[in-house]
Amino acid sequence: PGVLFITPEVYPLLKTGGLGDVSAALPAALREIKVDARLLIPGYPQVLKGLKHKRKIAEFAAQPPFPPSILLSAKLPLGASASVPIFIIDCPILYQREGSPYVNAAGHNWPDNALRFGLLSKIGAILASDASPLAWRPRIAHCNDWQSGLVPAYLHFHQGKKAASLMTIHNLAFQGIFPADTIAQLGLPATSFHINGAEYYGGMSFLKAGLYYSDHIATVSPTYAREIQMETLGFGMQGLLSARRNHISGIVNGIDTNDWDPATDPDIPRNYSANKLAAKAANKRALQQLLGLTIDPGIPLFGAVSRLTYQKGYDLLLEVAAQLTGLPAQLAILGSGEAMLEQELTTLAKNNPGKIAVHIGFDEKLSHLIEAGADSFLMPSRFEPCGLNQMYSQRYGTPPLVHATGGLVDTVVDCTPATLADGSASGFLFFDMTADSFLDAIRRVTVAYNNKSVWYRLMKNGMAKDFGWRSSAAAYRKIYLSLRS
Ligand code: ADP
Ligand code: GLC
Repeated sequence: PGVLFITPEVYPLLKTGGLGDVSAALPAALREIKVDARLLIPGYPQVLKGLKHKRKIAEFAAQPPFPPSILLSAKLPLGASASVPIFIIDCPILYQREGSPYVNAAGHNWPDNALRFGLLSKIGAILASDASPLAWRPRIAHCNDWQSGLVPAYLHFHQGKKAASLMTIHNLAFQGIFPADTIAQLGLPATSFHINGAEYYGGMSFLKAGLYYSDHIATVSPTYAREIQMETLGFGMQGLLSARRNHISGIVNGIDTNDWDPATDPDIPRNYSANKLAAKAANKRALQQLLGLTIDPGIPLFGAVSRLTYQKGYDLLLEVAAQLTGLPAQLAILGSGEAMLEQELTTLAKNNPGKIAVHIGFDEKLSHLIEAGADSFLMPSRFEPCGLNQMYSQRYGTPPLVHATGGLVDTVVDCTPATLADGSASGFLFFDMTADSFLDAIRRVTVAYNNKSVWYRLMKNGMAKDFGWRSSAAAYRKIYLSLRS
């Protein structure tokens, strides 16, 4: 079947987090199993600059409040041989802005985000219906996060032939909330301003609209699919989600095993594999040198790469920092996000030279070196729909230490005597979001690290796991086939 994959970001053109990775890798994996997946994305400068051979294929006249726009088509090259057809909405007034696709330089949401992602949704819905100017017509509109949440709503109210819609939740914390009059402004009928509709606590929510009007809902791990139906992690949507529980699937993300392969990774100084593990040490040395950490092959080095937000639990890391610095351990952090966390982490590094290094920024290359050079990878996420770095880490022989939440539970096997014996142990879980529980796990890592045979088994178990997209792409295909347009 034809699938229009509607997304606000795609690697390598523009990525702020895991959604960017998934938007590239999943459509590519779908095409390998004969699903005709094509992308739709706003024409940000990074997208227009990053794509060659763009062709104009349609024009959309102004439909107030939407300005006129042009639809371009191109191919997004992925790896040596693969590529995915991509449609780009060229609308300079809305998208021609440098920097983040969601926030301005001061970190505030762009004031016209309802219009910017309303247009993405509107054009997504047009292309997925008989109002499309294109000959290619998808059977499925696959929406991702709130930015495409109005697609199912527009489709629902479209009289005529239309695709079925699937709404994937990558992160329920981002809900696309706007004032109530946005509904009328964006051309949705007044009836959709309803608890059974797009209404959300007196305003409106793009995500709620998507969750309500879509034919099916997916989220990025089975555990998160259960968690979002409960109050703690439901972020106000738990009622709707538990009512729709028979229409929710939890499908764990894969990773791009070409981009993330320690045997071929061009961004690390020494390539290595499960049979050539000794070579990993050269990457540790390089990382210590680059970040100004004391060069010491024997001290356990913890790595972390992350958006610095409440979700990711860095406040907990700061809380245990004093005890952590008392242990024989080093810490290398790459991240960017909330100014407060950036500052506190920077201060922590300044006070612990040689022991803790913090690099503020978004740095794809350094993220690879941290995965390769660290001994263990920290993810104290308060919640984590899926998470990708814990999978990169296992593939890089860098056993992760993670909070037992969401996709982390589904992809990391806690190291215990039993899991060591059956060969499944691949990392460390801590079960309470408290300093004690976290510290306890950090100590367990340092003990295991000093037991060479245990540590080798952990590294090898993780490296042997299959994190590719094949089975998840097949699960999405099954959902597509089950939906009637
Ligand atoms: P999320 O989407 O919630 O941010 P994921 O674990 O799914 O979390 O994906 C995050 C992705 O973004 C990973 O590929 C990670 O390596 C990358 N990433 C996050 N922060 C940075 C950074 N500061 N520099 C480089 N890559 C980063
Ligand atoms: C989100 C989640 C993350 C997930 C990613 C891709 O941003 O926070 O856990 O891996 O989307 O699905």
